[in-house]
Amino acid sequence: MKPLQEEAMVDAAGNATSGVAKNLQKTGGEHSVLQMQLKGQDHHYDIHIGPQALSQLPLLLGARRCAIVTDDVVWALHGKTLCGALGLSRVVMSQLEGWKPVSDETLHLPQAQDEGSIQLLSVSVVPNGEASKNMDQLSRLYKDFVKGGLTRRDMVIAFGGGVIGDLAGYVAATWLRGVDFIQVPTSLLAMVDSSVGGKVAIDLPEGKNLVGAFHQPKAVLVDPRFLDTLPRRQLRDGIAEMVKAAMIRDEALLPMILEQFSDLSGASAAASEIDSEMASEIASEMVSQTTPAADVASRQNKSQTTLSISSMPEINKLLKRAINIKKIVVESDEKEIGDRKLLNFGHTLGHAAESRVGYNPELMTHGEGVAFGMQWITRISEKKGLSEPGTSALLESALAQLGFEIAPLLDFSSLKNWVLRDKKMTEKGLEVILIRKAGEGYVYSLAAGDVDDFFNK
Ligand SMILES: NC(=O)c1ccc[n+]([C@@H]2O[C@H](COP(=O)([O-])OP(=O)(O)OC[C@H]3O[C@@H](n4cnc5c(N)ncnc54)[C@H](O)[C@@H]3O)[C@@H](O)[C@H]2O)c1
Ligand SMILES: [Zn+2]
Repeated sequence: MKPLQEEAMVDAAGNATSGVAKNLQKTGGEHSVLQMQLKGQDHHYDIHIGPQALSQLPLLLGARRCAIVTDDVVWALHGKTLCGALGLSRVVMSQLEGWKPVSDETLHLPQAQDEGSIQLLSVSVVPNGEASKNMDQLSRLYKDFVKGGLTRRDMVIAFGGGVIGDLAGYVAATWLRGVDFIQVPTSLLAMVDSSVGGKVAIDLPEGKNLVGAFHQPKAVLVDPRFLDTLPRRQLRDGIAEMVKAAMIRDEALLPMILEQFSDLSGASAAASEIDSEMASEIASEMVSQTTPAADVASRQNKSQTTLSISSMPEINKLLKRAINIKKIVVESDEKEIGDRKLLNFGHTLGHAAESRVGYNPELMTHGEGVAFGMQWITRISEKKGLSEPGTSALLESALAQLGFEIAPLLDFSSLKNWVLRDKKMTEKGLEVILIRKAGEGYVYSLAAGDVDDFFNK
């Protein structure tokens, strides 16, 4: 029998056309399969979306052995679910059950495991957070693979948010000149953005994502049930990327996002109030830098409530639509020489704002930075007649309904240094992503000498 993923066919809108994919979609009416077909390459891979996504694991692995890379929070919350889906032998399961890693540990499993079950070589747990996307964790993972004997035939499973996807993906890209890996994203940002498209990287002290590769996964398995434990702030990071996707490519996605997620504040009104009050304080603190980070962090922890996202009626449809945009953009330009740049909408100023607060997610998360960045750049472009009138108001109203703060007035002088360090800044100038109208993003080139004027006037 052919493996499931080879038979699944989808049309341009992401709807299944083949028998297997259609049957999958029918199961519980929930399962969708998008197929990533990269330009000029035979290689393609499937993105499974729905509560049965993990059931693909045994099919994808077959007789291949695997190593799991995850973080402490995700492992504690969902490690059991992943191992259950893998169908591990009883001996391995009992060993895993007795293992309670604190944060930075590896479990190596015995080499001889029951025939007929998936052979798990190791579970590497890294501390959660951006700080783990570094050289130390990279070399630690190589050592784990040496000890576990991971060969080119084996598979790495990246199980976590975007940090794990990027880190484990980069290890997979470089270990033995490249081994296969599967993305099992657990944060919304990772589901709709980072797990799809093959960009993998680690950070250096000198900057984020400076060491990286293009290494496409063998499959992406998106199970929305993981979102039920995701703190609200992290959820909103993913929502910001979904708004970005809608603005650059799919106007109709915006009302769908609002329909699902503006209820977030209704479902948790108290937390929402704390959030918006806090967001406005953070906005002003970003400019004045007066409040100690610890105070802000303790206030923010109050808003870390989680919600039952997987029970939202349209969540699978929404995830599929947002992921489809990323898929289409990557398919047209895998290496970011053209259209893929659109995914940077809001990111030049957003990253600058994040850098300005020292990439401290307690002060400003990536999504909050991007939400500011999108607002700032669209205000500017509308003022210059480079966006249709009303685009900025539409964006700001959508973001406000989703619980984001209206961006303060842009003080370009405070961000300029970081903008000039942007990876997209060359001696020729800077490319910024603008929105002609909702759903229509485009690349706009600024000569180096015009950068100041563009942002200031
Ligand atoms: N490769 C790409 O194309 C791409 C695109 C965008 C972002 N990124 C990268 O993604 C990273 C950000 O991703 P992120 O926001 O997922 O960060 P993350 O991986 O640090 O996850 C955020 C936090 O949420 C926790 N978490 C994850 N899933 C959870 C769950 N289901 N329940 C409870 N907690 C959970 C994590 O432990 C972590 O503490 C950055 O490093 C960024 O550079 C990469
Ligand atoms: Zn982003």
